[in-house]
Amino acid sequence: MRACRFHLGSDHGGVELRDELAAVLTADGHTIMSTAGPRSADESADYPDIAVTVCRRLLEDPGSFGLLVCGTGQGMAMTANRIPGIRAALVGDVFSARMARAHNDANVLCLGQRVLGSELAKALAREFAATSFEGGRHQRRVDKLMRAGS
Ligand code: RB5
Repeated sequence: MRACRFHLGSDHGGVELRDELAAVLTADGHTIMSTAGPRSADESADYPDIAVTVCRRLLEDPGSFGLLVCGTGQGMAMTANRIPGIRAALVGDVFSARMARAHNDANVLCLGQRVLGSELAKALAREFAATSFEGGRHQRRVDKLMRAGS
């Protein structure tokens, strides 16, 4: 299995799942390079601040991935996708977690603690980490995606 480097982050709505996934990814042989956000759900944080911090960290660490968790994952994904160089995928099923890597070369996985069961979330993170970008015709599309709007 390939080993990945992850930068993690959550707001107060995703602390428990973030820490649970850190343990799972570490046990699978991946490395948690950094963790951003509150230590407990009692400590409020604004998801855009966390998303920006994590995305900056992974852009400074080429080849690494981001994992962002908030209540729904929506705010994290919306923020992350405003940052040049980021392709953030909000997923809730294993097939989409795989395709986000294989076809879209997603470099950030966004999850919602308040919408996903713990076992599904673990499966999503594992699938994302285990899947490589296929390149080929998908590279052309990702290149277009990265130029879109400019
Ligand atoms: C925080 O209450 C909540 O709005 C946040 O975690 C997230 O769901 C936003 O997208």
